[in-house]
Amino acid sequence: MLYGHEKEPFLHLPTPLERLDTLSEKLGINLYIKRDDLTGLGTGGNKLRKLEYFIKDALNKKATALVTVGGPQTNHGRLTAAVAAKYGMRCTIVAVGEYPGEISANILLDRIMGCTVYLVQKDGDASEGELSERAVRETMAGYEAAGERPYFVPLGGSNELGALGYCECAMEIDEQCRNMGIDDGRIVVTSGSMGTYIGCFIGLRHVGSKLGLLGVCISPSSDPDPAARAKKYFDRCKDYLGLEFDAQESDFNLTNEYHWGAYNNPVKEVREAIYEMGRKEGIILDPCYTGKTYYAIEQLCTKGEIKEGENIIFIHTGGVPGINGPVHRQAMEEELMDGLIIKKPER
Ligand SMILES: Cc1ncc(COP(=O)(O)O)c(C=O)c1O
Repeated sequence: MLYGHEKEPFLHLPTPLERLDTLSEKLGINLYIKRDDLTGLGTGGNKLRKLEYFIKDALNKKATALVTVGGPQTNHGRLTAAVAAKYGMRCTIVAVGEYPGEISANILLDRIMGCTVYLVQKDGDASEGELSERAVRETMAGYEAAGERPYFVPLGGSNELGALGYCECAMEIDEQCRNMGIDDGRIVVTSGSMGTYIGCFIGLRHVGSKLGLLGVCISPSSDPDPAARAKKYFDRCKDYLGLEFDAQESDFNLTNEYHWGAYNNPVKEVREAIYEMGRKEGIILDPCYTGKTYYAIEQLCTKGEIKEGENIIFIHTGGVPGINGPVHRQAMEEELMDGLIIKKPER
């Protein structure tokens, strides 16, 4: 029970917190990784912690189907599909976007788990938001007409309830750090719809942690000032959860410098950061979220904004299936072909 809200515990927690020795040495810092890519269902990722709270609420309301929204390759949608499958519910992901020409990456996993993916094509008239809202209404009504009880999970699981998942994660990290003798440092986490960042912020405050928090925004937002957006989100959480502490805009530390101009765009430097992590530590990052964040960590070390010897806790939020989306996969195939040796039979 956290701030009066119960969850349905289906994850194997705590996830590991480990030091990355080779990269620590290379970057001149103590780099730790929080393996929230290993959260279990549907190949894992950050959204499952939020979904422990949503599924509890859905079960309390006797829901029989989950409906959510996102981009066509939404990780959040995939994990919503996984939770729906586990709890015997039907599931639909509503996404505005083009069919990528193949069923791969998250869409493939969604379909394996029995989830319907409703891809709404743009009509050049209505906005993406309007198209999405309309399709969600239609989907909810369709379920109701079929005698189902649909439950709507918001974009990215990022509302006041969903934030609790990462509130708990930050508390978990704080405890792990204390057990490992890590007295100070900073958590670095990817920020998209911001529920993960805000949840961590609240969790660290909740336990009076000495750890700082940096969010790396991966998507250019209509709101150019992420701290202002964070403050608004925090205030909504404060009201909803009854938080007894306050926060000012200046308390939120987020950088907008590493989104590369678009959401889920292929970027050579980000792929190189992914290869670096793969080749030095055997850990796979993704091109939309965690690859951008690890690249940011490298850059912040070079610029001296992460200090020599600093303890950095990088939360691996998952997203690895995204590598198999056609755009990223094709770019990687071209770059990695040089290490593929094809031996013809000798005759
Ligand atoms: C792999 C991955 N990392 C990070 C995030 C960002 O989380 P949030 O939307 O809570 O900011 C997402 C969101 O979809 C994600 O899929």
